[in-house]
Parts: sequence; structure tokens; C-alpha cells
Amino acid sequence: MNVLSETSAACADPAGEELRRCDALPELSRFLTQERHPVHLVGVAGSGMSGLAGLLIELGHAVSGSDKATTTETDRLQRLGLRFYDQHLPDLANRAELVVFSSAIKDDNPILRGARNSGKSLVRRAEALAAIMHAKRGIVIAGMHGKTTTSAMTAHVLREGGLHPSHYVGAEIPILGTNAHWDPRSEYFVAEGDESDGTLRYFHPELALILNIEEEHLDFYPDLAAIEKVFAQLIDQTKGRVLYNADDPNTARLCVKRTGAVSYGFSEQADYRGLDIELRHFGSSFSVYGRGEKLGQATLNVPGEHNVHNALGVIALASELSIPFDKITASLRKFEHARRRFEIKYASDRFLLVDDYAHHPTEIRATVSTAKSIGRRRLVAMFQPHRFSRTKALSRKFGSAFDDTDRVVITDVYAASETPISGITGRTIVDEIIQHGHRGVSYQPRLEWMHRDVGNLLESGDLVLSLGAGNIHEQLEILAADLVIAEKLKSIVGEDSAVRLYEPLSKHTTLRVGGPAQFWVEPQSEHAFGDLIRFCRDEHLPLFAIGRGSNLLVRDGGIRGVVVHPRGGIFEKIEIDGSEITAGAGVKLRQVAYAARAANLGGLEWMEGIPGEVGGALRMNAGAMGAQTFENVTRIRYLDAEGNLQVKNRDDLEVFYRRFPLLEKNFAISATFRGQRAERAEIDSRLRESQEKRRTTQPVAKSAGCIFKNPPSIPAGKLVDELGLKNSRVGNARVSKVHGNFIVNDGDATSAEILQLIDNIKSVARKERGIELETEVEIVGEPQ
Ligand code: EPU
Repeated sequence: MNVLSETSAACADPAGEELRRCDALPELSRFLTQERHPVHLVGVAGSGMSGLAGLLIELGHAVSGSDKATTTETDRLQRLGLRFYDQHLPDLANRAELVVFSSAIKDDNPILRGARNSGKSLVRRAEALAAIMHAKRGIVIAGMHGKTTTSAMTAHVLREGGLHPSHYVGAEIPILGTNAHWDPRSEYFVAEGDESDGTLRYFHPELALILNIEEEHLDFYPDLAAIEKVFAQLIDQTKGRVLYNADDPNTARLCVKRTGAVSYGFSEQADYRGLDIELRHFGSSFSVYGRGEKLGQATLNVPGEHNVHNALGVIALASELSIPFDKITASLRKFEHARRRFEIKYASDRFLLVDDYAHHPTEIRATVSTAKSIGRRRLVAMFQPHRFSRTKALSRKFGSAFDDTDRVVITDVYAASETPISGITGRTIVDEIIQHGHRGVSYQPRLEWMHRDVGNLLESGDLVLSLGAGNIHEQLEILAADLVIAEKLKSIVGEDSAVRLYEPLSKHTTLRVGGPAQFWVEPQSEHAFGDLIRFCRDEHLPLFAIGRGSNLLVRDGGIRGVVVHPRGGIFEKIEIDGSEITAGAGVKLRQVAYAARAANLGGLEWMEGIPGEVGGALRMNAGAMGAQTFENVTRIRYLDAEGNLQVKNRDDLEVFYRRFPLLEKNFAISATFRGQRAERAEIDSRLRESQEKRRTTQPVAKSAGCIFKNPPSIPAGKLVDELGLKNSRVGNARVSKVHGNFIVNDGDATSAEILQLIDNIKSVARKERGIELETEVEIVGEPQ
């Protein structure tokens, strides 16, 4: 096995690597397909490496592998016999007779270094694959776009055609069972060839199907000419027929001279030609001509014109292998997509969520155009650029790839083992898209917040497309899972009531801070609210009610579960009956004060100075000017934890200073307040007094009113003042200069900053005065 170790020097300089000696291939092939050995795979979790591991296990080798990531694939392989290690420890491969490494593995990897030092045989993934393929009649599918789909389609059609091919495809393929399979009976081996790292040149297949060639992987290749050189070599090394896409100029230029090459496509010159193409929402149909003769009609159940092209390539290849046309079309009709290729993650009348692996501008344009043709009201895309080098090299082309989208949110670059390039981020693409004239683009550098941004802008009729070769699909999956619940919520509260995902609570609190509400619901009726309470109880969904958010500090991680904001209808109604005023939970206290004035009722003027709504004022027994809410309440209506309506008189209620326990688990609907007949002038004078007090003692700024309850010994504001803490700050959170019990948000303050400032004040009060300050604002939600 000496010859295998010769490649070990090559990994130091992959680009300049010499073609391995041809006589090594049969030897490695025998080692891998006719003998059994301990083999270790470095980077085994990668989509290509896991397929190879599967093949090696099926071939009877004792396979071990290491990777810093654990995936569902590594779990599956472990069940089949893989010894998996989640670290690359130097002596893991001690027992292995062969070490296979992924192109993503850096040269200084401890296992590689150890293997090299001990003279162990060391080969790249593609070399091992080429050697396995060498034992069969190899079919390589190569090209920049569509390889995985086309190789899966080929393996499927050959399988249905009775040829029992072995296969190796770079993604999970539900219709094939696994991403790779070794069938000892098989004559053929279908493999997706990876052009990204130059390793296409290891293959000496019997047949090659060339899909398209353009500028890509410019981290590895200096230019298109270098890419074409690798393809030209593959074409030269193909022993039998080369099948190629006649419509792709670069491919056609390389292949046309090759004797016996077979072309396919839409153009007149194509040997296998598609005509009368009819694109449908999730598929297509077209006529197929073979060397001028009509072969028949084909139907696909995967969408997009690009897939018609791919299918024509497969038809050409399968026909050359003498599979009858009707067998080919019957199996094409049954073909389902590979994972992450226009994969529908959620579908309802209102929304369609689709995930696609597209990461090159050409692929994005094709996928976007397919999505557009489905004809939903709006097309919303979320994109995660893949690799810094590609982002840099193709930024211009990315700028115009999203033309057909209505909204697009871009996150940061998925590195794929590259080191960052200075100045290249997701914003690079955002800037290009803006430059190109798109008006609906935004940037969310944090991938884990993508589902929030996209979810919050959703409208009924939207098609959401997640795009990228990294892990953006996980964000779409979170969105899909939450959308299932959001749609149920919508069906419960009805058409008039708004339901939104990930509503930023900074929009609904007077402090203007706080993360999102997972589900934001605005029920318009008591009945809808009751049903909502029951649903949340049955589904174990937390439910939190919010009014004006004037006395609320929501943490930056937002609130999990349902946040209910009763709105409209009964919740905003005010009724006056004699000296009683009944107001819905969503009525502002100030409106109650002025309604009372209009009816010549006094005693409620203090409410003028409270920024909140009736629901919130009840929940905390809010007060001002020496008065408090329950002094004026005669009865309340509320929904209990079962969603049933209850009415209680004031005498039956237990109320404390700034605390009303009943509403900690129940939900206010309305309250009836009692006023006293009074002269208008007297009422006006008390209103003015309240306004004046507010104007002269309280800040006009983003705040949550008083932060602390007044301790018995001293008003909290006075205490903070005496402690000299006015105007002290943490980030953009600052103690008001005007009133010591107010914290103001000077700009983009975070909850974390406000909480830190609260803690600072509390510890100084404790240390200096022995006073334990208690917060009056309600603090809710998850930390970031
Ligand atoms: N004071 C200072 N320095 C300060 C702030 C206040 O010396 O920086 C002194 C005042 O001069 C006064 C005493 O502290 O002698 C009390 O202050 P204030 O009259 O402003 O009343 P408060 O107790 O701080 C209460 C409510 C407010 C309400 C006002 C006006 C509480 C915790 N706060 O404030 O309610 O607006 O009375 O009626 O009971 C709220 O609940 O969010 C709120 C702002």
C-alpha cells in the first residue's frame, strides 16, 4: 500500500497537486472493494463524507470517524456500526490502515498530522470515491448547479429500470433511502462529482453527464479557465459517452468536439430535445425528441424549468443505457426531490414555506423564478450567503438575483470552514441588492433571529423561501413550527382578530425595550378571548396579557407563548350609567378621567396622569396623586383560568398597595368605576393640578413610570435622589434627572442595561440605608 501514502504530501498544496498516478486507482479500488480494513474518516459529518462512510460500512470495513459536529447522519451511521468521535484527537486513527479526509479539513488537523508523521496511507474523499466507483461501471454527474437532484434522478431512473445501481449523492434523498448505497449486484455506480476542490480529476468513469459550467468556487480556482480545465480532464478520462447540456455555452464548447458526445436541452441541435414545456406549480410536462424523432411525453413532479433540463439529461443517459422511454418517464413521474431542493416545509391556504439549497446567484434566480411562478401574493426570501470567497467574488451577481422577490432578509455569511475576509459580510450583499434598486431588503446579522424578522413581516398569501447551503433551513423549520400554532390561534380568534408572530414588544412598551412575543394575539371579543384561554390551557402554552405596556419591563429575549393584547370592541368601550363609568380593559385611564369630566363626575381626575390602560391599572392597583385604582372600582368583569366570565364586586376583592393578586392568573375584561357628582370647574382644577404635577416632577422621555414601590420609610424617588444616583447610567439606560424613581431610555437601551441599573440602585440603597427596594414595574420574559 505504499502508493497510497504518496498523496499525503499533496494535501499541503491542494491546488498545485499533481494528478495521482493512474496505477494507484486499481490498487486503492481493490483495497476498498475487495478487502476489509480499518478505515478512519476525518470530518465524517459532512454531507459527502457521511455518504462515503455509509459505503465503506456496507463494503464491510471497520469504519471510525471524527467530526466536531454531530448530525442525524452521524447518529444513523453509528447505528450501522460507525465508531464516532466528536473530537479530532491525534491517536484516533492509530489502528486505521487508511485515513480519508474531507476537503474542509485543515492541513494542521491533529489526525492528519499524526497519520502523515507515521507514514499512514492518506487519501481525499474523492479519491476514495473514485476508487470505489472504479470497481463498477461509473457514471459521474458533474456541473455547477443541479448535481444532487440530477444524480438522485439518475439513480432512481436506473433503479426503476432494473439496473440496481449503487449510488453516492451529496444529500439525503428520501426516494433513494439514503445518500449512498453499495449494491453488490450492481453493474453501475452513479455518483455526484464535486467540482469545488478540483477532485473531479480523480474520476475515470464510463459515462459522464455534464450539466453546466460557470464561475464558482473562486476560493479555489483563479478563473473560469481553471474550472474548465478540470472539466476537460474529466471529459478526457471518460471511457464511454459524455452527455452534455447543449444550452449551456461553456459546457457545449468543451464537449462538442468530443467524439460520440450526446447533447440534450431545448436547442435545435440537441440530440435529446425538450419541447412544448408546460410549467405547473409543482411540476411540469414536456415532449421529448430523440435525434429528431418524438419519443413521447414526460411529466415531472418537481418544479422549475431547470429541472426539465436536468430530466432531459437523465432521459438522454438512461436512453443510451437502453432503458425504454416509457419506463424512464414512469419513474421520472414518481421522482421526489432531494432534501433542501424546493422542499415544502409548510403549506396552507394562507402560507407556503419552501426551503432550497440555492447559494449561487444563478441557482437563486432559478429558484426564485420557480417560486414566483407559483403565484402566491408575495414572495419573501431569507438568504444566508455561503462562504466569504463566494460572497466577495459574486457580490454583484447576488445583487440582481433577488429581483423577483417582494421582501428579502439577508443574514451573515456561513463560513463553511473558511476564515473571514475583512469587509465581507451579509451586508455586502444587502448593499448590492439596494444598489440594484430593490426596496424590500433588510439585514439581520444574527442567524438565530432570522425567523423572527421574516415571521413578523408575514402576511396572508406569502410564499417564504429560505435559501442557502449552510443552516438557514433550521430557521425556516422554527418558523414552520410556530406558523402551525399561529394558524390555529387565528382560527380560534377569528378573522377580525390579528395574530402575529414574533411581534417586537419594544413597540408595545412605553420604555421601548423588550424582545419579541412568540405569538401576538389581539382578540376583539370576550368570546374569542375565552376560547384563546382554553386553547392555551389545553396546549400548555403560556399566556400573558399586555395593555399599553406602561409599567412593564420585558427582557431582551422576549416572551415565550401567547401575548394577548385585547383590542377593539368591548375592550375599548366606555359606558356611563349615572355616577358609574364602565370601561373596557383596553381603555386608557386618561380617557376614563375625561369621560368622567364630560359627565360631571369627579374623583377620577388622578387617572389623567397615568399612561396605562384599565387592564394594567387593575392588575397593579396603579395610583397617583395619593389615590389608587381600587378606591374608585365598584366591580370588575374578568375571564378566569378556564376562560369563563366572572363578575365580582369590590367588597369581594383582596387588594394591596400596587398589587392585585386575582389578575395574576385571570384576565380583566372591564371595570366599573364610581365617580361623585362635581362641578366642572372643580374637576378641571384637579385635572390641571395633576397635569402640573406630572409636568413639573416627571420626565418627558421613554420610561415605565416609577420603577420602585415606595418603601414605608421614604419615597423611592427621594431616596434615589439622596443617594446621588440621579443621571447615573448603564449604557443607554439612565436615572432621570427630573425624578429619581424614573429610568429613561436614552436611545437604544436594552432591557439588560435597565435591569443592571435597577440592580445598581438596589445595592446602593441596601448598602447605604439598609433599605430593600422592591420593583413596581413588572419584569417579564426571557433573558437574551
Ligand atoms: N422626590 C425627590 N426627588 C426625586 C423625586 C421625588 O426628592 O427625584 C420627592 C418629592 O419631592 C416628594 C416625594 O419625593 O416629596 C414623592 O415624590 P412624588 O410626589 O413625585 O411622588 P412619588 O411617590 O414618587 C407617586 C407615584 C407616581 C405618581 C406620583 C404622582 C408611586 C411609586 N409613584 O410618585 O406613580 O405619578 O405619585 O401622583 O407610588 C407610577 O406608579 O408609575 C407613578 C409614576
